[in-house]
Amino acid sequence: MDVLIAIHERRAVRDYRDEPVADTAIAALIDAAIWAPSGINLQPWCFFVIDDAATLAACSTKAKAALQAAATDHPELTGLRSMLASPAFNIFYNAPVLIIICATTADPMALKDCCLAAQNLMLAATAQGLGTCWIGLSETWLNTDAAKADLGIPAGFTPVAPIIVGHPRGSSPPPGRRAADIRRVGKAVLS
Ligand SMILES: Cc1cc2nc3c(=O)[nH]c(=O)nc-3n(C[C@H](O)[C@H](O)[C@H](O)COP(=O)(O)O)c2cc1C
Repeated sequence: MDVLIAIHERRAVRDYRDEPVADTAIAALIDAAIWAPSGINLQPWCFFVIDDAATLAACSTKAKAALQAAATDHPELTGLRSMLASPAFNIFYNAPVLIIICATTADPMALKDCCLAAQNLMLAATAQGLGTCWIGLSETWLNTDAAKADLGIPAGFTPVAPIIVGHPRGSSPPPGRRAADIRRVGKAVLS
């Protein structure tokens, strides 16, 4: 698939078929991810793959609880309270796979590198007919010592990009974009 088509067709997918994703497909996505650029080519990333439904359901429960406990610090999450309170709501939308891209160094540059890897992964998934969605709502829990211990993530790693992957059920309408805010900088600003 042409990269511009993949860029425009990638959607945050929140409804998945009950169908596993082949290990070869996951490997292809991670291969695309590691071809992202990284500061001085440090490649400071590690990919944690969870594809067990019971484990993912347990992660969802813990992530929701962590978010509910932290919600007072995040006024923008107020609208999510009822959703988080519902036992039926799976924060990972019942996707069959979660890939957590972790930064392996504390250098702030590593966070950027992991975000670039995440975008590569999501675009590669689009090209393969797979859906993805970055689940930022899980990050509060993922960045706790308890979650890292649960998932075998070393204490020195930072979970940056939790991305669900699966076969989309139907299509997701594009939410649209504001026009780009482009400002030309003239010579006058230079002193
Ligand atoms: C950093 C980040 C965190 C996100 N967290 C969530 C999330 O927790 N749950 C969710 O449903 N969507 C999440 N999204 C998806 C966005 O809501 C989505 O990308 C946005 O609405 C634009 O839609 P599109 O990706 O289909 O273009 C997240 C996206 C990003 C980049």
